[in-house]
Amino acid sequence: MSRGDKGNDRRGQGDSRSIGIMMSAAVVLGIVIIAMAVQLVRLNRQGKQDKTQLKTEASVDQKEKNKKAEKPLETKTPPEEKASVEHIRKDLDPDKPMVALTFDDGPYDRVTNRIVRVLAKNDSRATFFVVGNRVERYADTMKNAFQKGNQIATHTFDHGDLSKMKKKQMRRELKRAFRVMKKINGENPTMLRPPYGNVNDKMRQTIQIPMIYWSVDTEDWASRNKAKILKRCKSIKDGDIVLMHDLYPSTAAAVEKLVPKLCKKGFQLVTVEELFYYKGIDAKGGKVYFSGR
Ligand code: NI
Repeated sequence: MSRGDKGNDRRGQGDSRSIGIMMSAAVVLGIVIIAMAVQLVRLNRQGKQDKTQLKTEASVDQKEKNKKAEKPLETKTPPEEKASVEHIRKDLDPDKPMVALTFDDGPYDRVTNRIVRVLAKNDSRATFFVVGNRVERYADTMKNAFQKGNQIATHTFDHGDLSKMKKKQMRRELKRAFRVMKKINGENPTMLRPPYGNVNDKMRQTIQIPMIYWSVDTEDWASRNKAKILKRCKSIKDGDIVLMHDLYPSTAAAVEKLVPKLCKKGFQLVTVEELFYYKGIDAKGGKVYFSGR
């Protein structure tokens, strides 16, 4: 080994030391850059969250303001008058005969929509006693019937026989039916048609809304025949409540004939609510009603 070699060696050692320092500096710099990038991303994300939070808070504030703005209008109208504006037509003739067509077991788009269409075309209305477990599936159909002024009442949630239930079960069944209807119509039903037409004392004590029977039974579910249904409607007179089911195309076909026919005969086709209003019947919870007479 010569001096020069040693010098070279030393220089070589010096070079490798400085390379080592530079490399570790680069590593530190790299770490610093990565750390800064991570911090930047985190800040950016937080900023976005804050923004969305602010947005939702702002929209909640706006909703609160809207609510407040609406309130004075609500308080101006007494509750019973507000309900009657929405549900009871005031331009009906109390001296002309009235009939309430009622439809159980729906909604069912293919049948209900046909019935609603012919009713609207003839300035007529009816009452639909819907089964709660069908309501979400046919929500649009029910909402359409409701918005056209028809009365949407309940036929329980599962079409269970209330007369065979304990009070607690009965309440649960109705609570479920009310909840699903309110979600779509924005209000609770005010009348019930008991499934199978069964009523007992336990029901009278427990059920808080009037129970609606019928005075004309078309037996449409049994015949499923348009002509037979129409034949059973020949006896319709002032104040009748007519039982049908919006499940069968034959029922829709019969109603398409029946509605214009009854109008021509001078009948006003009304909801059960309207019938009771015009006939001066103050329907009470837990009581059973057969007609508007
Ligand atoms: Ni039924």
